[in-house]
Amino acid sequence: MTTPRFLVTSALPYANGPLHLGHAAGAYLPADIFCRFERLRGNDVLFICGSDEHGVAILMRARKEGVSPQDIVDRYHERIRSAFERFGMSFDWYGRTSSTIHRETSARFFETLADKGSFVLRSEEQLYDPEAGLFLADRFVVGTCPKCANPNAYGDQCESCGTSLSPSELIDPKSTLTEATPVLEETTHWYLPLGAHQEELAKWIDSRTNWKPTVLGQIKSWMSDGLADRAMTRDLPWGVPVPANVAARAGVDATGKVLYVWFDAPIGYVSATREWAEQRGDPDAWKDWWQNDETRLVHFIGKDNIVFHCLIFPLMLKLHGDFVLPCDVPANEFLNLEGQKLSTSRNWAVWLDEALDAFPADYLRYALCAIMPETKDSDFAWRDFGNRINNELADTLGNLVHRCVTFGVRTFDGVVPELTSPSDVDLEALDLLAHTTRAVAEKIESYKFREALTEAMNLARHGNKYFNDGEPWKTKKSDKERCANTIHVSLQIVASLSVILEPFLPFTCGRLRSMLGIGPLRSAGVPEGIGWNDAARPLLQPGSPITEGEPLVPKIEDAAIEEQLTKLESASRAARSANDPASESLPYAPLAPEITFDDFAKIDLRVGRVIAAEKMKKSKKLLRCDVDLGFETRQILAGVAEHLSPEDLIGKTVLVVANLAPRPMMGTESQGMLLMAEGRRGDLAPTTADQEPGAPVR
Ligand code: MF3
Ligand code: ZN
Repeated sequence: MTTPRFLVTSALPYANGPLHLGHAAGAYLPADIFCRFERLRGNDVLFICGSDEHGVAILMRARKEGVSPQDIVDRYHERIRSAFERFGMSFDWYGRTSSTIHRETSARFFETLADKGSFVLRSEEQLYDPEAGLFLADRFVVGTCPKCANPNAYGDQCESCGTSLSPSELIDPKSTLTEATPVLEETTHWYLPLGAHQEELAKWIDSRTNWKPTVLGQIKSWMSDGLADRAMTRDLPWGVPVPANVAARAGVDATGKVLYVWFDAPIGYVSATREWAEQRGDPDAWKDWWQNDETRLVHFIGKDNIVFHCLIFPLMLKLHGDFVLPCDVPANEFLNLEGQKLSTSRNWAVWLDEALDAFPADYLRYALCAIMPETKDSDFAWRDFGNRINNELADTLGNLVHRCVTFGVRTFDGVVPELTSPSDVDLEALDLLAHTTRAVAEKIESYKFREALTEAMNLARHGNKYFNDGEPWKTKKSDKERCANTIHVSLQIVASLSVILEPFLPFTCGRLRSMLGIGPLRSAGVPEGIGWNDAARPLLQPGSPITEGEPLVPKIEDAAIEEQLTKLESASRAARSANDPASESLPYAPLAPEITFDDFAKIDLRVGRVIAAEKMKKSKKLLRCDVDLGFETRQILAGVAEHLSPEDLIGKTVLVVANLAPRPMMGTESQGMLLMAEGRRGDLAPTTADQEPGAPVR
């Protein structure tokens, strides 16, 4: 029999914000537990992840901050990568989709599908923001979900019901850039004809009988609505460019067109594997994983990613032809926070890196695993977290370890005592090792991580009971042999726990093993190390030394928990008042990065007199102004109509950016920009100057 090979992926997080505990519990911790377990079993594992660095959300954030998208992704890629490391994620490779290998891999993938005729080229009217001069893909447009009536559905997906959408399906669409009502303009894109493949996909899904019912349920509900074709390209200034040769063959002008982020991102799993292979000096090694029928490809994701991992990406892989298809997609539901939905915009979130500043990674791993949203949404609450660590992890595992190690050190000269003529109770306790090892393995294999952790902790609970019932503090004087047996067996339980709990609590277990003198664990580099099955039998040799270490699981102080609650409340209050124009505590706009005098001197500011102003037809936001610059008159379109009326401007001498490149808008042109001062509530006032038109402003 060949060794099972697991190619495991966790959803590539968007590099446009930090990770929160919901991410950690959804797609990352379960995958890490799974991979650590399979490695211990001696199976071949490759664990792949990376940053998802394209897409509209990143572009929007860059625009908002006035920096480049590359600046945004550089900042968050690093922050995310280091949070993962501190959290104990055992990725074999953590890549990023702005890498050269990724751009190449995804462009070639696209080309292959295009050459095979897998796409349908379609010219369609699409939503266009005339004020921003951009097509409104994905998150640039919000509107009402046609399926569940959520008023804040995005152009690619409704986050409330999970339905995947096209911008044109939204009811009452609005541009998120300018709040303009979009107009329709024609553009050409490459579509993946999901509709034409529905039957084939349905057949494949029907063969996935072992998938989670929640996952299958979601897929089948989309299927019954009928799968809509999806555009795999976008008109956007950020992403993997549509390959020029493909566009040329299709007779399409590819200027400004990029691959849809949900086309390129999952290919990121492949490109990250290629980077891993290159770095090992074996550039073709990625094929042993992606092009090998023995590979079991498992995608760990949150439920909002199901459609992409269960239908769209598998179809892409299938059409390409050279890749294995996912063998399982154990998606998780959502994690709430203190009884409310997590929300990054309302700042109702606990950021993983900040939580790691306050608590050991294993505390977070333990608590998040115990409440993992495996079958339904679950709730993280700080006080529950404190109780769980103190009453379960510290009182059960920490306590057992402390008691038997201290006893061994003080009463048995720091070595594991002999087991002599064990009683039935001793033997029953030792039988639990094999039982627990098997039970935990079965649970992890079926992605029941909560139950797996419970089974493992039950061994610690039994260990405590066994220790108590044995009363070694009494037998120490009355019956030293019995006392030795009690400590021997308790230490064997703790030793097995140091392996069984390793996937869940890698840092704690490492320290525990060093107290017990247990050698390195099995891994790709150490095939002869201690493996999963070794935990089924006593691991410790009588006479081998043990040492007391620092307390394994120090308790959490109440004050530390209250501090987190205060922090959460005040962060969300700040976000609330920032979103609430009536509030007094509005933040000031952040200062833009420093520029040189030469940068400034490039801008030609002039005084101009507004000689005419009128509302622009079909636009809520635009005023059309004629502005006298002395030497000429300009037409300037100003996005101020929601704040100012034409009368507010007519006759005023205002400041004008006079050398701004003309911008096409609503079928005409804006030839400059009027400067406005924006109050913290978003209110606008024209900046005026008492000077003749045409006067330079320096
Ligand atoms: N960035 C996406 C999200 O956070 C997940 C991308 S997964 C991948 O929802 F498969 F596309 F990589
Ligand atoms: Zn919806």
